[in-house]
Amino acid sequence: MTILITGGAGYIGSHTARLLQEMGRDVVALDTLERGYRDALDDIDLVEGDIADPRVVGKVCRKYDVASVIHFAAYKAVGESVSEPLRYYKNNVSGSISLVETLLEHDVRQIVFSSSAAVYGTPDGSPVNEDAPLRPQSPYAQNKADVEHFLASCDPLGLRSVSLRYFNAAGAHESGDMGEDWSATANLVPVVMKVLFGIEPMLEIFGDDYPTADGSCIRDYVHVDDLADAHVKALDYLASGGTSLVANVGTGQGTSVKQLIAVTESVTGRQLPHRVAGRRPGDPAAVFADPTLIRAVLGWRATRDLREIISSAYRWHERHPDGYDR
Ligand code: UD1
Repeated sequence: MTILITGGAGYIGSHTARLLQEMGRDVVALDTLERGYRDALDDIDLVEGDIADPRVVGKVCRKYDVASVIHFAAYKAVGESVSEPLRYYKNNVSGSISLVETLLEHDVRQIVFSSSAAVYGTPDGSPVNEDAPLRPQSPYAQNKADVEHFLASCDPLGLRSVSLRYFNAAGAHESGDMGEDWSATANLVPVVMKVLFGIEPMLEIFGDDYPTADGSCIRDYVHVDDLADAHVKALDYLASGGTSLVANVGTGQGTSVKQLIAVTESVTGRQLPHRVAGRRPGDPAAVFADPTLIRAVLGWRATRDLREIISSAYRWHERHPDGYDR
């Protein structure tokens, strides 16, 4: 019985695949490699193909005797989703529907879905729990909300799902040999790393006039290996008969941009050149998780702090300045 990991060659997918392999579970990754890296999977089986192709998915299900799925495969750039909505809806929403259709045909009825706290948009307050209204502010965030709803609608077909709403995924594997591709992302931690390694001259703090203690925005940074662990716990929950669930994956701890800069300088012993720039449109002042539900139901909690996020990301980029395949 094998766990199928769609998008397994991507950032969070590859860390989850590695953790499952380390635990002795059988896994197979399915990835188009459009934005993933074969080398991120090391010796884990990879099938190159699209979730929307029923022949490929069906073949994988049969060949590997797939029992459950973790579904990461999706585009994830918020700005790009605004300029290319067709591409995002097609890949993220239609692709997920095709995938589930094929899975059901092959009697695979347990799925963990990679969702995002972006579904909350600008919440009324933080910590934010799962009952907060969904106000997606981009096609990307709407795609996540749509797939969550679609999966929940499939309960009568016998599908059981866990949708995990990640807060800000960051950091790298402790080995220093797996991490995020910083070339295609404008998220804070990769940008901080680019500045430390001289690829960008300076970090711009997007606004310091927010109603927070130091004026900069507050987010909830979760270590990618803690996120991977949440997926394993979600799979085990489904395997033991758990009913469908939607859960936040966050630490419950808010960190401001300025605090993150201070931690980075302390961990690395290096100055991080920065300046205050204007606000980035659409940025909520503070978003951090209420992780009560995932603690109670899955027994998950984050075990790594911001210092480990920064030190692991630093180690990865220091050892692999050109990422995986260059
Ligand atoms: C973004 C996405 C979210 C996605 C998440 C992880 C939006 C609105 N949200 O969240 O959907 O799930 O990434 O991929 O795009 N910052 C700076 N300078 C920088 C970069 C960021 O000050 O150069 C600040 C931002 O203002 C924000 C914080 O750092 O306060 C984190 O930003 P970012 O990493 O882009 O994540 P989010 O915007 O929280």
